[in-house]
Amino acid sequence: VTLFEISTPELTARVLDYGATVQALLVTDQDGKTVDVVLGHDTIEGYETHDGYLGACVGRVANRIGGAEFTLNGKMYPLAKNDGQNHLHGGLRGFDKYVWDAEILEDGVKFSRVSPDMEEGYPGNLAVSVTYRVENGALVIMYDAKSDRDTLCNLTNHSYFNLAGGGTALAHELRINAESFTENDENCLPTGRLIPVAGTPFDFRAAKPVGRDIGADDGQLAIGHGYDHNFALSGRDAAELYSPESGVAMNITTDMPGVQLYTANFLERIPGKRGALMEPHGAVCLETQEFPDAVHHADFPSPVLRAGAAYHRETELTFDVR
Ligand code: GAL
Repeated sequence: VTLFEISTPELTARVLDYGATVQALLVTDQDGKTVDVVLGHDTIEGYETHDGYLGACVGRVANRIGGAEFTLNGKMYPLAKNDGQNHLHGGLRGFDKYVWDAEILEDGVKFSRVSPDMEEGYPGNLAVSVTYRVENGALVIMYDAKSDRDTLCNLTNHSYFNLAGGGTALAHELRINAESFTENDENCLPTGRLIPVAGTPFDFRAAKPVGRDIGADDGQLAIGHGYDHNFALSGRDAAELYSPESGVAMNITTDMPGVQLYTANFLERIPGKRGALMEPHGAVCLETQEFPDAVHHADFPSPVLRAGAAYHRETELTFDVR
């Protein structure tokens, strides 16, 4: 396993070929101090044994598939039930648990692998790559894939952001460019209904602290012990996270239709990087994605990737200090 460092004066990204993982993102805060704004592990064993998907590329299909099966072209494909009766984040051994091939670029690294036909139950040999480039203060993530059979594809990066470099993330201010979010059932699967955010704890149209309404008496928040929901994005400008403590801000743009806000509700209290104890709500995940369980909802954007068609998605994380 190899760690690659991509650096500009504004941003240093450390990425691993194991899981095409973002292991560290170093920026300078308002006091001139270097802060690492993502959680992770110091050892490869940490990544192998922990199932929090810290910083990893998640695939072939990120998020949940209800009933751990789907039907495509009239054929039913059973998948692993690794989240109760449902399928989560690509299965028992998802893209986060493989060593990818690496190609060094002038301003980044391109990780690739071929996910073989029927890997984790998904049809089609899928040639997939994730490219990380650093441009000034931005980490540009490019996802590309092509399959030789019709299949499903939904790739994301599962970074846990803490823009203060540690402690709780509940004081982080968050804005999400979404008028609605997908309602969850008790297993965190979309019911199919889109709920307008207006007048709910899910209204992040104007920036507010992540923790302001997280304890509200709200059925949706109770299900996941905090936010664990997909927001239907209104445009490329997806979200912005800001830590008043460090002054570090992160802006997210993407061409994907959704973003999962997950407030690290299930993060185990185990040591992460530099021995610092991780904790629930100690980070914010903003996973740009197709809608969860989209294969079972005809009115969600389709997660189907046709044979020979090019899957290309981009997400850009831009850091600055305010
Ligand atoms: C998130 C998901 C959570 C949880 C987490 C991993 O993306 O929405 O419910 O499974 O990953 O611990």
